[in-house]
Amino acid sequence: MSDANPIDLLFGGMEKLGPGSNRDTLKVLDMLPQTVHGVIVDAGCGAGRHTLALAKRLQTLVHAVDSYEPFLDSLAQRAKEAGIEHLIQTHCMDMVNIPSILREIDLLWSEGAAYNIGFPHALRTWHAALKPGGFAVVSELSWLRNNAPDAVLQFFKSGYPDMHSADENRIVAEDAGYNVLAMHTLPREAWIKGYYDILEPRAKALLDHPDESVRAFAAETIEEIRIFGCSEDSYGYVFYVVQKA
Ligand SMILES: C[S@@+](CC[C@H](N)C(=O)[O-])C[C@H]1O[C@@H](n2cnc3c(N)ncnc32)[C@H](O)[C@@H]1O
Repeated sequence: MSDANPIDLLFGGMEKLGPGSNRDTLKVLDMLPQTVHGVIVDAGCGAGRHTLALAKRLQTLVHAVDSYEPFLDSLAQRAKEAGIEHLIQTHCMDMVNIPSILREIDLLWSEGAAYNIGFPHALRTWHAALKPGGFAVVSELSWLRNNAPDAVLQFFKSGYPDMHSADENRIVAEDAGYNVLAMHTLPREAWIKGYYDILEPRAKALLDHPDESVRAFAAETIEEIRIFGCSEDSYGYVFYVVQKA
């Protein structure tokens, strides 16, 4: 862990690197019309909270893709501790390159990570790597109603200008060549427990860090959490459960 790497300082050792919970992961997995085996890929897996949940439930090898090696190391360590290292294969790579490395995918999972390459781009890119009739489960930050508080609108105007409504994202998925089977919105609790409740005190403690980039990252995180607190459920993480058409 580096002394001045904002990512390591804020997220180091955390199991959840984004909102989510195993309860929601497994609930969404159960929304698939059949149990999936075969080639399973988790794109942008981070430290792999959901990767481990999927592997344990399906008892199938999961290919865990992330571009940040320390997160994959942490996942490998957790898999070992859980006695399921044989079910996890890590790949340190850009998830945009999945189709050139992993093919004939039965299930492509991605929680809180697709935005890094753009939700529409991710869906179009991964389509090529899925088997005919293969499934994708991709979560994306989405507007849940169209009258968000001003502070929230202002924050996302610069923070995530590409955020769309859940209905718009459904159309994006259809246009990318999928049938949308189900959608699920993460409950508020999944943002707080094990995520914001750990990040907030860490970020506050980093506000007087000697490195300017660390202080700035900490301040952004505190602002993100403040905005969540006054969001009035105007946005949320929506899982799109889709099947290659
Ligand atoms: C917000 S974190 C979510 C991690 C994890 N899915 C979770 O919910 O705990 C986003 C993850 O995407 C990874 N990431 C960002 N850009 C990526 C890319 N182009 N290819 C692969 N992974 C990427 C980051 O390293 C990070 O682990």
